[in-house]
Amino acid sequence: MITLSCPLRMSMKMPSSFCHSQFCTSSSNLAGRILAPIMVQALDFSNNFFLGTPIIRNPNYNFHQNEIWVLRRNRQARGMVGGRVTTTANEGIQTDSTTLTSLISVDPPRGTRDFPPEDMRLRSWLFQHFREVSRLFAFEEIDFPVLESEELFVRKAGEEITQQLYNFEDKGGRRVALRPELTPSLARLVLQKGKSLSLPLKWFAIGQCWRYERMTRGRRREHYQWNMDIIGISGVEAEAELLSAIVTFFTRLGITASDVGIKISNRKVLQAVLARYSIPDESFAAVCVIVDKIEKLPRSEIENELAALQVPSDAIDGILQALTLKSLDDLEDLLGAESGAVAELKQLFALADGYGFSDWLNFDASVVRGLAYYTGTVFEAFDRERKLRAICGGGRYDQLLSTYGGADTPACGFGFGDAVIIELLKERKLMPELGHVVDDVVLALEDHLKAPAAMVAAHLRNAGRVVDLVLETKRLKWVFKHTERLHAKRLVLLGATEWNRGTLRVKDLITREESDVTLDDLLT
Ligand code: HAM
Repeated sequence: MITLSCPLRMSMKMPSSFCHSQFCTSSSNLAGRILAPIMVQALDFSNNFFLGTPIIRNPNYNFHQNEIWVLRRNRQARGMVGGRVTTTANEGIQTDSTTLTSLISVDPPRGTRDFPPEDMRLRSWLFQHFREVSRLFAFEEIDFPVLESEELFVRKAGEEITQQLYNFEDKGGRRVALRPELTPSLARLVLQKGKSLSLPLKWFAIGQCWRYERMTRGRRREHYQWNMDIIGISGVEAEAELLSAIVTFFTRLGITASDVGIKISNRKVLQAVLARYSIPDESFAAVCVIVDKIEKLPRSEIENELAALQVPSDAIDGILQALTLKSLDDLEDLLGAESGAVAELKQLFALADGYGFSDWLNFDASVVRGLAYYTGTVFEAFDRERKLRAICGGGRYDQLLSTYGGADTPACGFGFGDAVIIELLKERKLMPELGHVVDDVVLALEDHLKAPAAMVAAHLRNAGRVVDLVLETKRLKWVFKHTERLHAKRLVLLGATEWNRGTLRVKDLITREESDVTLDDLLT
């Protein structure tokens, strides 16, 4: 049952049929469109009463006297004020002097998140590590618009990501999309800057991406991605540097090689297998996109999809067989020592030895990645307990720029989401404790001391201290509770007697000691 409530003091011109009992039993009087039976009740704002029943106020909401609130019965039963509005309900009610306002759903759109302070602290902490690791590797930060032209993301290989686009026509009739990833925007920027750029580029970005995805643990419809990309280096030294950055990041967070592994392969493995069966190059990206689903779909479905691409059955067997390889020696047996894929993988593992992170790496030919543009090395980090989706992924994409009309340019990089890593930190009990940091709470004990209190706060802030200036006139009891809530280190009180003497009363909230000091003393 839906309950419609309205302020007692609001003057409402109701249809003649409007009476409490009728509304209890029928909704058709409102707009003729509501199917559920509804009941109109009066909400007394001053007393927080719901027809005599006390309600618990949702602290996020202030009631206004000119609002109609439509509440779900079940929400009300839980003592909450809130819920979805059936706007048709409002349409049927006219008021003399006020406009009716709907209470919208208080939840963010499905698959998206709010970031209240405690979540924002965590996000900032994570991003700070992303930024700090990028800085240690001498990468420069870049950014692009969240909204891009749809054409930037339109690729024909059948990738999931292109089917998950948040795309629409803007008011100017242009097809646009919320970016599902950052790499196409990076390619666009490199093309736009053209010859003014001196290669190699080492760039990083942290940005929100949108994918209309089926939601699972760590997968959302919006997520933030940290990307590091190197443009202009064709050797696997670039991949090694990127992998080293990823491992550095994990290590800073307390994650070890026994928690996380990085599976590595090279798309040249598949290229070599396809060449054996004379499968045309044009099918390469589509084959990669299909075989990337090997762990998600039954083998028969993969075979059917490959067959639909005109891949002969012996080639299908050859491809699927190659994907089972887990050792470089076996790969060498299959492709020969002169194979480009084998040489690159061996060199990459040798570099990883040099950096000291080879214990994080596993060769695994089944890693192909679901994005069409990769041409060489591909990798994905995963939790060794296999409870979570990929933590990050990347690879080499030497031909992406040419698909946008530019010249082929060597490039590789990775994307690292903000959601799976948090799940992993929770699993490993490595979540940081991040409090709201306040150094000083400053309070004027009398109204005429508010300007001096503002001056004291300004001086403390100029000295780099985090200061919460109490803006209202509050009693000491409240202020002590407030300092506890903020975990403040000091309370600075301006009382008339002390201020007239040129001093302030300071309470050290850690040692509990109190003293009268001058402003100069306070700043030193
Ligand atoms: P991707 O594998 O599609 O690659 O995404 C990279 C990472 O972003 C994933 O490993 C995961 O951490 C995160 N991620 C992706 N989708 C979601 C989602 N729906 N919810 C939460 N997290 C998600 C790329 O996007 C490539 N552009 C990466 C790249 C950069 N390659 C070269 N440079």
